[in-house]
Amino acid sequence: MQKQIPFFRAFLTGDELKNVKRVLDSHWLTTGIETKAFEKEFCRFTGAKYAVGLNSCTAALHLSLIALGIKKDDVVITTPFTFASTANVIEHMNASLRFVDVNEDDFTIDLDKAEKVLSSKVKAVIPVHYAGSVCDLERLEKMCKSKKVKIIQDSAHCIEGKWNGKHVSNYGDTTCYSFYATKNITTGEGGMVTSKNSSLMEKIRILSLHGLSKNAWSRYSKKGNAFYQIIYPGFKYNMFDVQAAIGRAQLKKISVMRKMRKKVDALYRKTLSDIDGIRFQKTIKQVTHAHHLFVVDLNTRKSKIKRTKLMEILSMNNIAYSVHFTSLHLHPYYKNKYKFKPNDFPVANRLSREIISLPFFAEMQEEDVVRVAKCFKKAR
Ligand SMILES: Cc1ncc(COP(=O)(O)O)c(C=O)c1O
Repeated sequence: MQKQIPFFRAFLTGDELKNVKRVLDSHWLTTGIETKAFEKEFCRFTGAKYAVGLNSCTAALHLSLIALGIKKDDVVITTPFTFASTANVIEHMNASLRFVDVNEDDFTIDLDKAEKVLSSKVKAVIPVHYAGSVCDLERLEKMCKSKKVKIIQDSAHCIEGKWNGKHVSNYGDTTCYSFYATKNITTGEGGMVTSKNSSLMEKIRILSLHGLSKNAWSRYSKKGNAFYQIIYPGFKYNMFDVQAAIGRAQLKKISVMRKMRKKVDALYRKTLSDIDGIRFQKTIKQVTHAHHLFVVDLNTRKSKIKRTKLMEILSMNNIAYSVHFTSLHLHPYYKNKYKFKPNDFPVANRLSREIISLPFFAEMQEEDVVRVAKCFKKAR
């Protein structure tokens, strides 16, 4: 058996271990100075004014909806071509979920279709920066401003992304990031929310720690304070210092790792260029792509490649793969609750059946890319 090509492998260089050791040696393990320092450094990288470290991107999305005042039955728009949590958090709010299909070019929200459903009932839109691409954020802001619709960006895939040279954190009301094990930088599990709105972020910070008053955070300083007040029924969503220590080491390498993945992306495109009919995500010049995933649209009608056969061949060759995503409208909960039919979102529906995410990580070698490409030739 040939050596396994994993779907993802975190680029760990020893600095993560050094940082974690520093935290363990300090005997201060929960939220504290490391988390604060990580938030500050994250602001510097993204150009955001404020950042709050959290235990996931899901928490960032959830707290954004609460802090922005989304209420029962308010309409919140997102795409179905995303991970569970983007829509699950809308459900948790008892808001009214409205899916808008993605476009065929870069698989992000179709803004023409989104414009048609924007009405006074819509209170927020959650664009998903799929695989590291970015929709036209200037157009989205313009569309939303006139209708007073809030923008919460699901940037789980897109820590490095920019629109027109401006980092995504500079658009919308909040931007939500993931540091899950396979993300562009990782803390194992973790997330961050950024915004330019200080009062909103103060609310998010309070909500992330049980809704305890701001001065309760002094529990986490040497001065200490045993007394606090509960202002909101908050959550246990805070980031802790061991996570932040790993994140700080990862953040230092973020541009190097993106460059490495960008090279792998180019290698894949070149190596797979003789497979007729398959398609790749398009990137227009306004987009700085974060290169989170390498997704192939098998475009089955033209390429004649069967996804199940390709998956079998990849597995036989000890190569991991994934699918991002099976559209949420095809999953039992959403399908049954909203009575969705597969073709209600034709692009997401087709992509769900015809895309595959190939192994993609910074240290991937040319010979690995060649091994993956060989499987495509056998799958026709
Ligand atoms: C598009 C998208 N949004 C949100 C999330 C949730 O991120 P987390 O696991 O940090 O909550 C993910 C996770 O993979 C994702 O892919």
